[in-house]
Amino acid sequence: MSETQRPERGDAGIAAVVLAAGKGTRMKSDLPKVLHPLAGRAMIDHLLDTLAALSPGRVVVVIGPGMESVGEAVAPHACVIQDLQHGTGHAVAQARAALADFAGDVMVLYGDTPLITADTLHGMVARRRAADSPAVVVLGFRPADAGEYGRLVVGDSGGLEAIVEYRDADAAVRAIDLCNSGVMAIDGAALFGLLDRIDNANARGEYYLTDIVAMARSDGRVCAAIEAAESELLGVNSRSDLAQAEAVMQDRLRARAMAEGATLIDPATTWFSFDTRLGRDVTVGPNVVFGPGVIVGDEVQIRPFSHLEGARIADRAQIGPFARLRPGADVGEAARIGNFVEAKAAIVEAGAKVNHLTYIGDARIGAGANIGAGTITCNYDGFSKHTTDIGAGAFIGSNAALVAPVVIGDGAVVGAGSVISSDVPGDGLAITRAPQKILDDGAARLRRRLAAAKG
Ligand code: UD1
Ligand code: CA
Repeated sequence: MSETQRPERGDAGIAAVVLAAGKGTRMKSDLPKVLHPLAGRAMIDHLLDTLAALSPGRVVVVIGPGMESVGEAVAPHACVIQDLQHGTGHAVAQARAALADFAGDVMVLYGDTPLITADTLHGMVARRRAADSPAVVVLGFRPADAGEYGRLVVGDSGGLEAIVEYRDADAAVRAIDLCNSGVMAIDGAALFGLLDRIDNANARGEYYLTDIVAMARSDGRVCAAIEAAESELLGVNSRSDLAQAEAVMQDRLRARAMAEGATLIDPATTWFSFDTRLGRDVTVGPNVVFGPGVIVGDEVQIRPFSHLEGARIADRAQIGPFARLRPGADVGEAARIGNFVEAKAAIVEAGAKVNHLTYIGDARIGAGANIGAGTITCNYDGFSKHTTDIGAGAFIGSNAALVAPVVIGDGAVVGAGSVISSDVPGDGLAITRAPQKILDDGAARLRRRLAAAKG
């Protein structure tokens, strides 16, 4: 077992057990299901991030054998391995040693149900701590299609009496539309005693966590159900579910960006990463994709069809349309990156313009410099990457090839079409193209010769 003991942090009265041992067969993937990303981050990391709002003193993630990669992803949280998947009750029982001396509130969550909100988790803890002290608080929902979810049986007094799995339910129970999300808040002092008493005498031959409700009731304890929206409780079992979860996540990120003062011209076509940060009065045109690690200042314009990742953009810069900013692109104040420009590991200082059809990689473009259309920094020689340094106010003519390593001084000019392979001093002018030749009437003579040859 890879379980490790750690000093408690946060709220010592809350522990969480996250179930993630299921194989996720229907994903048809070599990647454990809970590591599939939503908005650029593994589902389980979204869940752990939401959980952090409760500051649980302990978090135990239950994984299956061969899922070391999940263990690494959730570190520094503890993992326990459930060797065989004998059901959700058996899975929670794997946390027994990690929670041996714990008597607070135990939250149970599923790693493949990552859209739950912090508000809902707070609501569950509050209900657990209410005066009637329910032994188990279950989060229910009313999905459009109740399908094969477990059903919550609520008594006349409004208390939760039992959870019945679909396969074990009769027609009357199947007609109940209040379903079990799987998320629970449980009295930690009672949990493992209840788990000791569940059996696997059911349609699937599994140890059902859900059975602890009827058991706690038979001990005379109160149990309770609270409800959340279906969109929070979407479980990911297939690639199609993953796409649905991504849609929910994107809608939240879009709503947040707009609430924080960005204009999205067509929100449905703006794709965010979980960590995208936009300043105020940013305008994002249609069909813009933010990969991980993008930080945008105030009053920036990002025009349609731009793709950005790992980039930093300062106030009032203009990007696109059709720009590609790759990791390490650092665009200065009021600088411009225009159409069909790719930038990677490139610092573009304030007011510089790189407006058309250009690749800048491993480069610095000084303040106010102007980079002509079609300029390429030739940063790679097939073995190593080299840098191009362009000084402030330099002017690079169109279609220049700057063969790195090379330094172009402040205020230098490079003639269009030049191949620059040695440094250009400040205020120098470099031009490498062949001199132009004019043959008077040459075009007419060429046409006559070609026509004659054709007959
Ligand atoms: C479970 C609930 C059902 C509920 C549904 C909501 C039980 C018995 N049933 O059913 O009432 O409506 O979730 O989605 O709890 N897992 C383990 N180890 C195991 C078994 C499961 O870690 O041995 C994990 C899975 O990875 C998954 C979660 O527990 O994240 C739920 O397991 P799953 O088999 O999908 O439960 P359901 O049959 O869908
Ligand atoms: Ca499931």
